[in-house]
Amino acid sequence: MREKLEQIKAEALRQIEASDALEKLNEVRVNYLGKKGELTAVLKGMKDVAAEERPKVGQLVNETRAEIEKVLDESIRKMEQRVRDAKLKTEVIDVTLPAKKNSVGHRHPSTIALEEVERIFIGMGYEVVEGPEVERDYYNFEALNIPADHPAKDEQDTFYITGDILLRTQTSSTQVHEMEKGKLPIRMIAPGRVFRSDEVDATHSPSFHQIEGLVIDRNITFADLKGTLAEFARELFGKETKVKFRPHHFPFTEPSAEMDVTCFKCGGKGCRFCKGEGWIEILGCGMVHPHVLEMSGIDPEKYSGFAFGVGLERIALLKYEIDDMRLLYENDIRFLKQF
Ligand code: DAH
Repeated sequence: MREKLEQIKAEALRQIEASDALEKLNEVRVNYLGKKGELTAVLKGMKDVAAEERPKVGQLVNETRAEIEKVLDESIRKMEQRVRDAKLKTEVIDVTLPAKKNSVGHRHPSTIALEEVERIFIGMGYEVVEGPEVERDYYNFEALNIPADHPAKDEQDTFYITGDILLRTQTSSTQVHEMEKGKLPIRMIAPGRVFRSDEVDATHSPSFHQIEGLVIDRNITFADLKGTLAEFARELFGKETKVKFRPHHFPFTEPSAEMDVTCFKCGGKGCRFCKGEGWIEILGCGMVHPHVLEMSGIDPEKYSGFAFGVGLERIALLKYEIDDMRLLYENDIRFLKQF
């Protein structure tokens, strides 16, 4: 019996020695110490051993088990250490590397300018609406007092989809949509994209943005227009800003005007920024033409209104002192970062 146990132990130790992975060591444990293992089998054979020999044999089995267990545990501990070392070597973390930066973007300067304009008019009780970029000739021209043979159609040449359907040349078309809804009074601004068949240069683009404004109610006068737009200019360019209205012509307003603001760089004295003028032109405006009201189903005897149109890019260029409109479209990060 003693010999048998020595044999089992020697074989177990040999196998432990030869194991090169944790799974192998576990196999050894199962094969020698487990319920169906070799040592258990020896214990089961005790019934064949003489009664007075049994305690001795039992002790021997236990000693053998303890020895194998001790070597096994030690080997497992070493093996685990080896696995950990290997892992540490392959998964090196270089703590001196710079951290990954989360770069947070921000709004485009045109968007900043638009939201500023929206904020000002919402503050005065205006609603922000939108109209379609693809329009019928009627909404873009006809209903705005620009009939088929009107010269204004040459100035605003655009992209035609069919003879009657086109890309809008001005957000003024939204005036017609709002008036046709038949809900009065109206106090709205309508920002959006417009299109013209223009070559790209520092001040032109075939696609740019306008913000339209329209107010219609009883007893609206040119004084309301002036007060509103003067307040708008002060909010946008600073409270020292003064405005000046120059007579102009737009087919859909009568009278019509262009509004200039005092140069916010020199305060009106004249500088390089305003080309020595002291004034900068910023928008077109006027009292809505009675015929325009009538065409959209509003009685010009009862109602009157004013309208205005601002170029969004122009506002952004002025506000941020950018001298080339193309910079707003190129989306060069180095440029956009500055705002
Ligand atoms: N739609 C005009 C343009 O594109 C701008 C404009 C002028 C709009 C006068 C208006 C206005 O509402 O009253 O040149």
